[in-house]
Amino acid sequence: MRKRIVIKLSGSLFGLDDPKTIKQFAEFFAKMSKICQPIIIAGGGKIARHYITHARSSGADESTLDELGIEVSRLNAKLLIYALQSMAYPHPPVNLKEVANAADSGLIVVTGGLHPGQSTNATAALIAEKVRAGMFLNATDVDGVYDSDPNKNKNAKKFKKITLKNLRSMLVHQESIAGGYDLMDIVALKVIERSKIKTRILKANTKILEKAIKGSPEGTEITLV
Ligand code: UTP
Repeated sequence: MRKRIVIKLSGSLFGLDDPKTIKQFAEFFAKMSKICQPIIIAGGGKIARHYITHARSSGADESTLDELGIEVSRLNAKLLIYALQSMAYPHPPVNLKEVANAADSGLIVVTGGLHPGQSTNATAALIAEKVRAGMFLNATDVDGVYDSDPNKNKNAKKFKKITLKNLRSMLVHQESIAGGYDLMDIVALKVIERSKIKTRILKANTKILEKAIKGSPEGTEITLV
């Protein structure tokens, strides 16, 4: 059986006006499917945040806002599914059991969020656990974990490796509200820890992802100790 690789794709890729990006990612995953089985989780991105902000201003509760974010991430997943055509499982699975069944089909699986109260990063970690993935790649709009925000501090230093404990202490100050979960959330870290999932945070770029899939130390590795 080909090794399963779980890839969380930043929602920021799906908000772009140019449809070429998604087509390029589809071609890339089709190529990678010769050496591994990609299981992809699409983020909600700007469009999810747009809907969440609007509905919050009308007084919707947080779990309803999470559901909105999930719906948008599923729409994003569909864009990639349509670009992959028959190489992909035909719709985004809606729970972990369906993800596992879809993965057993051997096709490329693309899903969005699953449960309110977490981000697609936690969902991706749970999926990596469920399908016994050989690797979990969190492909984001930054190229790894930094000691401070690289967009605000030009001297920010990137970590090649970071322990779960140190990453957790960096995240505790983050807000757990709809649309507000960041690089990783606490649920994701717990799942990575309990199932010892090999995890990297890296840039959502096909060349970098290909190198990581082939074993190169791209981005930041999350280590257990
Ligand atoms: P994300 O915040 O995960 O989107 O999901 P994103 O685009 O991946 O974020 P980045 O920019 O790449 O980090 C959008 C929103 O959908 C809801 C949450 O409210 C989340 O903020 N969501 C998503 C859930 O409630 N459960 C899920 O399983 C997934």
